[in-house]
Amino acid sequence: ETAGPLAGKKALVTSGPTHEPIDPVRYIANRSSGKQGHAIAAALRRLGAEVTLVSGPVTIVDPAGVNVVKVESAREMLEASLACLPVDVAVMAAAVADWRVADAAGTKMKKDGSGKLPSLSLTENPDILATIGHHETLRPSLVIGFAAETGNVISYAKDKLGRKGADFICANDVSPESGVFGGDANTVHLVGKDAVEDWPTMTKDEVAARLASVIAARLDT
Ligand code: PMT
Repeated sequence: ETAGPLAGKKALVTSGPTHEPIDPVRYIANRSSGKQGHAIAAALRRLGAEVTLVSGPVTIVDPAGVNVVKVESAREMLEASLACLPVDVAVMAAAVADWRVADAAGTKMKKDGSGKLPSLSLTENPDILATIGHHETLRPSLVIGFAAETGNVISYAKDKLGRKGADFICANDVSPESGVFGGDANTVHLVGKDAVEDWPTMTKDEVAARLASVIAARLDT
């Protein structure tokens, strides 16, 4: 039993990076720590929602009171996310790898001493946000994605809003000097269908709380 504006509502949040295997000992990944996604799961829980957090490999602690499903690859994250539906709101904060190695080796790739370099051929991963944002039967009432960019942040976010079928995109600049990957602060632009809100730089917990209150207001109407 929980109280709060989101009591009785179900939420799905994705967080963290994905790991895409090259062979059994090596992988392709990115710099996401899971801090922003985990903070959003915690904030939705604090407002009373029943929250499932689908997380890639991270080293931070699980948020209290949240059902945590741990995955490694984008394909596993898609499967775990679809298994959560139906939900009222989905927030896709995970940094999902766009590509994976097409034929990951089943055994460790070895240097054979000849100096010949291996080459990796990549294939596209499924897009979890787009799959859920365009879902024919189980699309959540509210679908929120992120856009992690190193330039043209707003225009790329607007493009993702339409292409991925989201109601909002939280656009953030992840250039190295921003310190967003792994850091405790974030500067978000909330891109909606007809307006963009520029939020001040806040802690990731504050960003999460503000986003949770936007969600509560939207689901209330
Ligand atoms: O984890 P932290 O260290 O706290 O850092 C937070 C963050 C920078 C990871 C986070 O704030 C953020 O921006 N998350 C989204 C990262 C990302 O992958 O952005 P993107 O622009 O590549 O993807 C756009 C959207 O599509 C995202 O909602 C992403 O979850 C989703 N996506 C992308 C590719 C894919 N195959 N499937 C997806 O669902």
